[in-house]
Parts: sequence; C-alpha cells; structure tokens
Amino acid sequence: MAVCFLRRIEDRQTWHMVPRRINHMNISFLLNGETVHLSDVHPTTTLLDWLRETRGLTGTKEGCNEGDCGACTVIVLDAETTRPLNACILFLPQLQGKAIRTIEGIASGDTLHPAQQAMIDLHGSQCGFCTPGFVTSMVAAGINGDTDFDTTLAGNLCRCTGYAPIARAAKHTETAPLPDWVATDRQALAACAKAALTAAQPGSGDALAALLVDQPQTRLIAGATDLGLWVTKHLTDLGPVAFLNAARDLAQITETDTHWDIGAMVTIETLRLWAVDHMPALADLLRRYASTQVRMAATLGGNIANGSPIGDSPPALIALGATLTLRRGDTRRTIPLQDFFIDYGKQDLQPSEFVQSIQIPKTDHDLRCYKISKRFDQDISALLGCFNIRVDANTIQDAKIAFGGMAGIPKRASAVERALMGQPWSLDTITAAHSAWAEDFQPLSDMRASAGYRLTTARNLLVRYFHDRAATPTSVHEVTV
Ligand SMILES: Cc1cc2nc3c(=O)[nH]c(=O)nc-3n(C[C@H](O)[C@H](O)[C@H](O)COP(=O)(O)OP(=O)(O)OC[C@H]3O[C@@H](n4cnc5c(N)ncnc54)[C@H](O)[C@@H]3O)c2cc1C
Ligand code: FES
Ligand code: FES
Repeated sequence: MAVCFLRRIEDRQTWHMVPRRINHMNISFLLNGETVHLSDVHPTTTLLDWLRETRGLTGTKEGCNEGDCGACTVIVLDAETTRPLNACILFLPQLQGKAIRTIEGIASGDTLHPAQQAMIDLHGSQCGFCTPGFVTSMVAAGINGDTDFDTTLAGNLCRCTGYAPIARAAKHTETAPLPDWVATDRQALAACAKAALTAAQPGSGDALAALLVDQPQTRLIAGATDLGLWVTKHLTDLGPVAFLNAARDLAQITETDTHWDIGAMVTIETLRLWAVDHMPALADLLRRYASTQVRMAATLGGNIANGSPIGDSPPALIALGATLTLRRGDTRRTIPLQDFFIDYGKQDLQPSEFVQSIQIPKTDHDLRCYKISKRFDQDISALLGCFNIRVDANTIQDAKIAFGGMAGIPKRASAVERALMGQPWSLDTITAAHSAWAEDFQPLSDMRASAGYRLTTARNLLVRYFHDRAATPTSVHEVTV
C-alpha cells in the first residue's frame, strides 16, 4: 500500500506536467448546500482532486483512484435521481446542474446522520479509511429506499472490519428519515440547472451531431467509467472533449410496436432496473456489472462504443438480436450490433459519428447469460456466454450465441449456431457441435483465464444452458469460479 501511495504521488507530479491544451469550461453546481460557480475549469479535473486539493474536503478518501474501492463515494442528486458515485473518476463538468453531498455535508447541524451514528455505535469503523464511502453509500441507498445492502454496498471495500459490523450498521439505518437537505438541494438546483451550457456540453442529440460535424476530433465523455481511468491511471491528455450528460434526449427508453429503443446515455443501472420487468436475464447479468457506483455512471453507449472484448452488455444484446443506430449530422444508419465490432480496438464508427441508440427486438426469447469471473461483485468477466435458442417441436429453429472474453471483440459463435440449426434440441446435438467451438474461437491466455479454460468453459456453458432450460423456464443464471 505504501509503495502504491508513493507511486500515486509521483504520478500526480507527472500529471501536473502534462500539457493542458483542452477547452476549459464554466460549471455551476451545489456542494453541501452551497452554490458553486467555477470558471475556466480544466474539463478532466476529477471531483475527488478538486474536493480534496481545492476545497480541503478531505473526508472523501482516495483509495484506488480507479472506481474499484468506493472510498471516494459522494452523493449526487438531481431533480429525479440520487446516485452514489465514485468521485475519483467523475469529471467536474459531469456535475453541471447537480447537487453533491460529501461526508462533510450529510449531518443535520450537530446531529450526525443515523448512518454515521450507527457506524460508531455498532463498531463499523476501524482504521476509518473506507468509512466515509460506506456511509455515503448507505445514505444514498436510504434516500432511494433500497435495503438490498449486498448490492448497494458491493462497491465499497474494507480491509479491517470483516463487513459484519458494517452490514449491521446499514441494517440499522433502514428506517432513517429522509434528510432535510434532499428537499432543499432539489429546490436550489433549479437555479444551477439554468446556467448556460457551453459548446462542450451539447444539450441534445442534434447539438451533439452538429458539434461533431464541425469538430470531428472531439472526444465524447459519457459516464467516464472508462475514460476516467485514462486520466487517473494513464495520465492521458484527452484533447478536445464534449460531455454528453446534458443531452437528455439520448437518455430515454422508448417503445415501438417492434422493439425497445435504448438511448446511448441510458446508464447501466437504469437499464438494469428496466430489464427487471422486461428481460430478467439481462437484469441478472447487469447486477454482476461492476458496482452500484459504476453502474449509476456508466452508460450503455459507452459500454458499446469502447469496443471492449470483455464488456458485459454487448454479448447479451447480440444474443437478443439488437441493432445499433449511429448518427452523423442528420444521417442515421442502423446495423446489427455484432457488425459494429470489427477487430480489437476497431469499431465501425466513422469520423463525426456517434452511437445514438440500441434497439432490442420484441421477439420471444429465452436469453440466459453466464458471467464467469473470480468474484461475484465488482469484477470484469473472464468470459461471458449469452445464449438465446428458439426450439419448436424439439427442433432448433434459431440460435443466437455470443461471447465476451473469447476473442478480440464481442463475437457470435457462428459455426456452433450453424451446427445446431435444424437439429433436435438434445445433448447429442450439443456434443456433435463440439468441434465447431474451435472454429469460432481461439481465445488468449491472460491473467483472468487460460485459453484452454476459456474454450472448455464455453462448451460447457451450452450444456448448462440446456439443463437450465429443462429445469426452469426463467431464473437467475450467474456463476463465479
Ligand atoms: C471499477 C470498474 C468496474 C467495471 N466493471 C465492468 C464490468 O463489470 N463490466 C463491464 O462491461 N464494464 C465494466 N467496467 C468498464 C466501464 O464501466 C465500461 O466500459 C462503461 O460502460 C463505459 O461507459 P461510460 O459511459 O462510462 O463511457 P466513457 O468512459 O465515458 O467512454 C468510453 C468510450 O466510449 C466513447 N463513447 C461514449 N459514449 C459514446 C457515444 N454515445 N457515441 C460514441 N462514442 C461514445 C467515449 O468517447 C470513450 O471512447 C468497469 C469500470 C470500472 C471503473
Ligand atoms: S478511490 Fe477507489 S473508487 Fe475512487
Ligand atoms: S475500517 Fe479500515 S478499511 Fe475499512
């Protein structure tokens, strides 16, 4: 830890030497009830650095500086939502028109918030480093009425307490009244939200399209759960940027006769909550995506546009037959999602084009997803298999199988699908398709899994899908190794 900490100091010294040539911005938000107007802000200043170094609010801790540990969790409110977010990978312009509550701002005068008091009374804190993050996560969960603490606290790590006292403290706060500041912040927010947006914060998809045609080199920042790490870990100068958080028309889920249209700025958590009623298997999978803090920031558009071979949403959406709508200026094109991923690090995205939305067809499906990772929570997939096979009269009519972690891109198992089509739905058919897996995938060995493990597991997951379908019409399908 000490070595790590020293490296962070060195990193930061280097970071201050990185040439800063990007569009500076003006921002307004509420901080612990006080209106803050910032002018000429460097767009990739993180909230954590600003809180600690400029405002001296050191209650918000820096543990990992990459969204993993939750020590930096703050509460971010707007008119409708309350989100616990990791301040270390949150850029200041993402807070335009929002209200932030840090650990210093959650008590009511001299009276501690019940979550703070419970952590003291029930011995939920030892060294105390993780404590502010746990408390802010508990307070946010309380405001949202969410008592599933295994989920809401999964993004907060503690090295000292063993979690039981923390879980007891969380349970103790279940009935805590809503803090007064929730209402006062929301009232005061209206003034901040009216602050004029700068060109780097397009207020709609149209404004974004025009900006990108004019300045094709602009880098888009959505939830910053990927780009944030480019800055904090790789010290990358992102160049000219545009923040998408003000383009609310890109954050809608709409329904037509044939499909659901999910805007690129819909967060993974919003999609998860929507999917609980519409596509439970997708909801189960997204529960395994990172942590509450990351899911509440990360967007579906970002999870697709970054082209990661181990992103969790693409295999599930490909198996559902999703399409992707891309926009450049006034021109839109819609392609099958799997065609977007061309090669490792190469997506079918033209200059000035952006991801507008994803369409999920409203067809019958039996989607089941299996995320294989070393930990249940807050872990990236070693591999992820998503299966959606249609069977009529015991004959396979359609097979959509997509994997993450098996190639340089999220990829369909086309040869396996061909081997299954038209065959009886049986273990014999699955065994007969055995050799097709190696046609589809030649996975790599890396720190998450060996190539042999990946290929064997992928084959076995089809067997598991077969048994799961026989056992349950719909259920939770999650495994860890
Ligand atoms: C601690 C941690 C845990 C994680 N765990 C998981 C996990 O379990 N599963 C998983 O899949 N991922 C995980 N991730 C990765 C990350 O959450 C995803 O890659 C995320 O979806 C990126 O979305 P974003 O909105 O944050 O994108 P950003 O970081 O804002 O952007 C990512 C890329 O997409 C581009 N982009 C964003 N929106 C658009 C658009 N509309 N059009 C064109 N380009 C666009 C950006 O320019 C950038 O190149 C994790 C990340 C962290 C920090
Ligand atoms: S410092 Fe670890 S999540 Fe932010
Ligand atoms: S009390 Fe020490 S890290 Fe949690």
